[in-house]
Amino acid sequence: MAKTLPKVTPTFLILFTILSFASFATAGGFSRTLSPAKLGLKREKLSHLHFYFHDIVSGPNQTAVRVAEAPMTNTSLTGFGAVVMIDDPLTARPELTSKHVGRAQGIYASASQTEVGFLMVLNFAFMEGKYNGSTLSVLGRNTVLSAVRELPIVGGSGLFRFARGYAHARTHTFDIGSGDAVVEYNVYVFHY
Ligand SMILES: *[C@@H]1O[C@H](CO)[C@@H](O)[C@H](O)[C@H]1NC(C)=O
Ligand SMILES: *[C@@H]1O[C@H](CO)[C@@H](O)[C@H](O)[C@H]1NC(C)=O
Ligand SMILES: *[C@@H]1O[C@H](CO)[C@@H](O)[C@H](O)[C@H]1NC(C)=O
Repeated sequence: MAKTLPKVTPTFLILFTILSFASFATAGGFSRTLSPAKLGLKREKLSHLHFYFHDIVSGPNQTAVRVAEAPMTNTSLTGFGAVVMIDDPLTARPELTSKHVGRAQGIYASASQTEVGFLMVLNFAFMEGKYNGSTLSVLGRNTVLSAVRELPIVGGSGLFRFARGYAHARTHTFDIGSGDAVVEYNVYVFHY
């Protein structure tokens, strides 16, 4: 037996739409449960990104500047208290002249009194191909004298919405004279 269904008339559709919004509105419109598909989220994937980070602390094209320090920072063996703002280029190869894939924008600050250990709070802002305009957010600890440092990726935007993962950082070159460094990054992230 066929069930009698309400006839789908334009009036019915309008009423249905109003009622759906009304049920959301009764909750004050503050929150609702949503299926991932409704947000266009399909299968979660894992991506590996590889690039080089150029921390230029000297010369006319400086990309990392100290913006704050403590009275004891310059006498501390670890530079404890120094806060550095960066807008560091990210490239596909170790050479600064190689393809630009993005920039690392944010702050690193000397947060350890016993070893050189930075608190890193920054965004990787990508410019390459389909990733142009997408970002990954890093919040982690960077003991720069260790061979490999692991930093958590705590989120992202654009193609990297809902991102989570980690980055492995390895110093590629460090110029003791200038303090400039090139760091190799391998980033592994789950995202949609
Ligand atoms: C600084 O940047 C300018 C413009 O891109 C470039 O011509 C110059 O060679 C750079 N200088 C150094 C020391 O890298
Ligand atoms: C610490 O050293 C930096 C870099 O050499 C310098 O700019 C700054 O003035 C010094 N700060 C103090 C408090 O001596
Ligand atoms: C990235 O996007 C910006 C803004 O939409 C655009 O101006 C720029 O040309 C793009 N860069 C690349 C490499 O696609």
